[in-house]
Amino acid sequence: MEQSASESRRITLHAPEDFVGMRRAGQLAAATLDMITPHVRPGVTTGALDALILEFIEKNGATSATVGYRGYQHASCISINHVVCHGIPGTKKLMDGDILNIDVTVILDGWYGDTSRMYAAGTPSTKAKLLMDVTYESLMRGIKAVRPGARLGDVGHAIQSYVEKQRFSVVRDFCGHGIGRTFHASPNVLHFGRPGEGAVLKPGMFFTIEPMVNVGRPEVKVLDDGWTAVTRDRSLSAQFEHMIGVTEDGCEVFTYSPAGLHKPPYDI
Ligand code: MF3
Ligand code: CO
Ligand code: CO
Repeated sequence: MEQSASESRRITLHAPEDFVGMRRAGQLAAATLDMITPHVRPGVTTGALDALILEFIEKNGATSATVGYRGYQHASCISINHVVCHGIPGTKKLMDGDILNIDVTVILDGWYGDTSRMYAAGTPSTKAKLLMDVTYESLMRGIKAVRPGARLGDVGHAIQSYVEKQRFSVVRDFCGHGIGRTFHASPNVLHFGRPGEGAVLKPGMFFTIEPMVNVGRPEVKVLDDGWTAVTRDRSLSAQFEHMIGVTEDGCEVFTYSPAGLHKPPYDI
């Protein structure tokens, strides 16, 4: 049997009522990113942002999925400039012109809500703004490719072909993932690929799409802290993440911003 057919069988198909739990978890995660928006300014430490995030999640009756996950100690990943993902919050202060991804995952009534967005502290460069716009658009093109009968390769191809046309590169070492009552499940959602390849999508599949896009080369390395992934050429990197459920005629995005803060600039 074709490998993609056996992979499709390993992906949980959720019931219609499961969409309710995912919607609630996704909306809380997105509201967390909304809440933090006005706090992202030059001079604030990433540790202070993380503390606000943890407080907000717990105040809303949820827990952070990342605290204690494989030894990770924080409620967010905050990845600045050439950090690709899994930046660890701490004493570092944001500087004018920094761009950063903030990634949060909540657990609400047993359902996982995972989303991330880009932010800017002060005024980013023209190149940084372009990188954020292209990364956001690549995610939305990936989402548009999701429908029953489509394949994951169609999703990856939609992202990769757009990014490379803009002369940026797609990170290969990290991918999106199945999600639901567990954090990281089958399938692996690659942000590159060929049309018509990979698992066949079916209603009730829940997964994230979270492309990481670099200005320079796609290679990354993980620092000695075991988490922080940076571009090998130290070029700027950006990422956006949504969590989606496949429906009968397309997909539902669980993690749209309740406040309409989809991508920077957030004029608030
Ligand atoms: N939220 C990340 C993802 O999109 C995972 C972070 S795991 C952590 O899959 F431990 F680094 F927080
Ligand atoms: Co994710
Ligand atoms: Co995430």
